Amino acid sequence: MSSYRIAVVGAGYVGLVSACGFAELGHEVVCVEKDEDKLAMLKEGVSPIYEPGLEELLKEKLACGSLRFTHDLGESAAWAQVIFICVGTPPREDGSADLSQVEEVARRIAGVIDEYKLIVEKSTVPVKTAQWIKRTIELYGGKGKSYDVASNPEFLREGNALNDFFNPDRIVIGVESDRAEKILRDIYAKIDAPILVTDINTAEIIKHASNSFLAMKISFINMVADLCEAVGADVKRVAKGMGLDRRIGEAFLGAGIGYGGSCFPKDLKAFIKIAEEHHVDFSLLKEVQKINELRIERFLKKIKDVMWVLKDKEIAIWGLSFKPDTDDIREAPSLRLIPLLLSEGVSLRLYDPKAINNFKRVFPETDRVRYFTDPYSAVEGAHALVILTEWEEFKRADLARVKELLLTPLIFDGRNIFEPEEVQKFGLEYYPVGRGRSCVE
Ligand code: UDX
Repeated sequence: MSSYRIAVVGAGYVGLVSACGFAELGHEVVCVEKDEDKLAMLKEGVSPIYEPGLEELLKEKLACGSLRFTHDLGESAAWAQVIFICVGTPPREDGSADLSQVEEVARRIAGVIDEYKLIVEKSTVPVKTAQWIKRTIELYGGKGKSYDVASNPEFLREGNALNDFFNPDRIVIGVESDRAEKILRDIYAKIDAPILVTDINTAEIIKHASNSFLAMKISFINMVADLCEAVGADVKRVAKGMGLDRRIGEAFLGAGIGYGGSCFPKDLKAFIKIAEEHHVDFSLLKEVQKINELRIERFLKKIKDVMWVLKDKEIAIWGLSFKPDTDDIREAPSLRLIPLLLSEGVSLRLYDPKAINNFKRVFPETDRVRYFTDPYSAVEGAHALVILTEWEEFKRADLARVKELLLTPLIFDGRNIFEPEEVQKFGLEYYPVGRGRSCVE
């Protein structure tokens, strides 16, 4: 396996994990970050994001010199043989992806192609973005220069990103030349996973299609959960029965308060938008979005049905991040449920193992929004406990203590982390999602 000089542009959830991963695979990596504060942290070996194992790997790769950080994109792109574009592609008002950061990188690279370079888009981008990268490079000085563009989408799950980097189910590379294919095969040579080689458009679609399918599985089981609540069936057992069929698989059939994160919502919008632009009907995915959006109001209705009056009640919330093992709150269900509870006159007692600092930036502490450093203090004196993220520590909670601390013994579980009979034996009223009739008889 050859070692390459790799520039990773963008030190976010994808870029930083990829930069550390490439360095660990034996390549020489420079990671470009334009945010000065983040850059200062990274140079000190401090990760701006929480991801299990990431900061340890970051420190190790900095120490051995195979990874360094800079703000200078031009110098890094000139030095590198391979440039991975890992910048943000946030949704715009109309749902399309904002590709301005991608375009800026392509423009800057165009001016420094003195020898062959492989430019690889790893950010999640709509199909045909690579073609625009090529056109941009041609327009800004790359005409006649020696380079290829390729697509190498990432399938990293937050909270599991390093494991997903080193143990992927597959590596997808969209290329237009044998040279580009060889380089990417070389870069990933140490990773034992199937490598799927496609044209670039196909590789770009695989990413959006994969995320959209996963989101569809979640909305499917949430739709079924609504029926289970209406007739008194158990969606967890339904998911088990479905998932034993290898063609279905039980992963991502977890009913609950719905999906969030920086990917599913954004990727569905972008996929629907790009289909619309090509006059293809993706209304199936619009239904996926609609079912997901409904989760919050159904969950709030359940709380109101059970508690009758919410005004002046105190509710404890465990779980602010959009999923466990991350401090990321982007599109988290908590961001949508909490304003609704506040508008009902509820006071909130919030706890999360990692996401409190991020959450405070959106919901500063007030007399009605209080943060606690441990889950039990949050529960003390509350009229109900609401669970929005399935952190491991919540699954191991001392329910006898929770019962003792709650003013009224009510638990609303948006992630179905307990078995109903396990909770009820403590004298707690338990309201999960889709597990039998849940509203007050
Ligand atoms: C996702 C894809 O899994 C990953 O491959 C892609 O690269 C990025 O987007 P991520 O958003 O980090 O990863 O988290 P993921 O574990 O996929 O969960 C996404 C959302 O779905 C979370 O809000 C999670 O709570 C929710 N979810 C997941 C469910 O509601 N039910 C499930 O059964 C699984």
